Amino acid sequence: VDLIVRPDGGNVSSPIMYGLMHEDINNSGDGGIYAELIRNRAFQSGDESRYPVTLDGWSAVNGAKLSLKKLSQPLSAALPYSMNVAVPSSSNKTVGFANAGYWGMDVKVQKYTGSFYVKGAYQGKSFTASLQSALTGEVFGTTKVPVQKAGNDWVKYDFNLVPEKAAPNSNNTFAITFDAAGVRGGSLDFNLISLFPPTYKNRPNGLRVDIMEALAALKPKFLRFPGGNMLEGNTLPTWWKWNETIGDLKNRPGRAGVWGYPLSAGLGLVEYMQWCEDLNLEPILAVWSGLALDGGELPESRIDEAVQSALDELEFLTGDASTHWGGIRASILGHTRPWKIRYVEIGNEDWLGGGSTGFENYKKYRFPAFFKAFQEKYPEIQLIASPSVFDGMTIPKPAGGDYHPYLTPDNMVSSFNKFDSLTRDNLTLIGEAASTHPNGGIGWSGNLMPFPWWGGSVGEAIFLLGLERNGDKVIGATYAPGLRNLNRWQWAMTQIQHAADPALTTLSTSYYVWKLLGTTAITKTLPVTATTGGIGPLYYVAGETERGSSVFKAAVYNSTEPVAVSVQFAGLGEKVKQPHKKTATATLTVLTGPTNPYEYNDPWKHNNVVKETKTKLNAKEGGIFSFTLPQLSVAVLETDGE
Ligand code: AHR
Repeated sequence: VDLIVRPDGGNVSSPIMYGLMHEDINNSGDGGIYAELIRNRAFQSGDESRYPVTLDGWSAVNGAKLSLKKLSQPLSAALPYSMNVAVPSSSNKTVGFANAGYWGMDVKVQKYTGSFYVKGAYQGKSFTASLQSALTGEVFGTTKVPVQKAGNDWVKYDFNLVPEKAAPNSNNTFAITFDAAGVRGGSLDFNLISLFPPTYKNRPNGLRVDIMEALAALKPKFLRFPGGNMLEGNTLPTWWKWNETIGDLKNRPGRAGVWGYPLSAGLGLVEYMQWCEDLNLEPILAVWSGLALDGGELPESRIDEAVQSALDELEFLTGDASTHWGGIRASILGHTRPWKIRYVEIGNEDWLGGGSTGFENYKKYRFPAFFKAFQEKYPEIQLIASPSVFDGMTIPKPAGGDYHPYLTPDNMVSSFNKFDSLTRDNLTLIGEAASTHPNGGIGWSGNLMPFPWWGGSVGEAIFLLGLERNGDKVIGATYAPGLRNLNRWQWAMTQIQHAADPALTTLSTSYYVWKLLGTTAITKTLPVTATTGGIGPLYYVAGETERGSSVFKAAVYNSTEPVAVSVQFAGLGEKVKQPHKKTATATLTVLTGPTNPYEYNDPWKHNNVVKETKTKLNAKEGGIFSFTLPQLSVAVLETDGE
């Protein structure tokens, strides 16, 4: 295939071409990126008919008796349950309780920051916080927490714990024990028991370092949150109420998640904004559109409630201290500087839920109510409807849409041209995307693949190259929910898998593909013309990056033999003719995979089936670079600076 890349004549692409999407699915928030180590730290439910409050994660130490209590004087209205720890009158030892974490805890010689609340008469001098092996009982670290005041009021204790020794594996627990003689025959009540390892950028109540570092390496530009289905809730009352996710942890009631487990809401609206700050991401804030996953829907007479909540949320984030919600942000949370919100999405996949009327009502009154309110109050914000033009919605300008391709690799590839027919009036976000099923037709009646696999990842690459060709019509693109805890998950297709043991953090085949394309995102396309061959089995796009380099990005799919490529950067040809420049160089990065396209990166095998090679190429006369790409490969040729 012989191609010429012209130096001008292309279109300016979206400044936020590649990003992230997060919802708490797969214990990717609690038990994932949210660094809290204690599972079920405050006995939350969000919806007791769905998630009865339990002592899940907790066990007694030395014969203490643990039970849940709904005290007449709870820690807070938001946290009505606490754990009662009764001490048998026969006990002479230290007693207490332990937490198993999110299926273990990583113990290193580093500072852990903890806290807990206690209520009750305790005559002892201190509590002991410790980290130990669940298998052998070996204690890796312990600290005494002196008693401040014992009595009928709840008292908060803060402590630091630095283990003397790292644990050999993550099968560890965290315990709080105390002197049985100080309570014998009585009991103490505990709540909101928390323990954090060091967090990314040392944020209190922050995020897990290794996962944030892996996300940072993707060089993303936006974060779409908090869903996904997570935004909607299973039932009308259980949608993601942003105002219940802010402030002191003891005032966050938690939430009935939609993926089979309740949520702490520790990763709340402010923590999401800090995530954006720390990775320099543009928030794409999804607000509830009045639809629940069970089909419950706000009637037209009540849609203003959802609209007002969204406006309040915007005021909380962007209003100055003189506004009601901006004042709360500034005075109570101490964040005086307003954040900037440039993108708001109304709902999630509203073309899908709500039975026969859900989508019709979205078009008829739900979306229009938001559209009108935002046009009046926040006309500068790019609104995004949760369906796209491909889902059968005519989206009023200047709003955009959101398209979620969950496809086979073949269908990813056949979507390469999908955006060619759009105009700039059809601005589209790819708010979730992944190759989910193998080719061959099992579709949604069959399982997803167990992990992103090489053939699927190359399919995604080709879809993304098609998007980059149309970067002026695209708001941005992100993989499906990115994270998955290997111990409890509902959705297999994720960029990164993780568990308590950081050695299990696994970057999938798709991670490598999205990283290569994201770190070379095109800011302005350059026209490519073929003098020999054309699109398929080589798929390609060319453009300029924010570094000022020129790139040619390509992938090969369904080829029986390696594809010989010559790319002439016509502009570079001119430069090479300059007397002081003998040659021009470029770096060719090629990702290749296994011969079997179904292979994947398996967390337990610690393998990486993706091979990356980097080669320096010299241009021939006229700025021509020649190379060969094998079947199922993804490549970026990037010109070097002067
Ligand atoms: O990715 C999992 C789910 O798939 C998301 O929550 C939803 O938006 C989509 O249907």
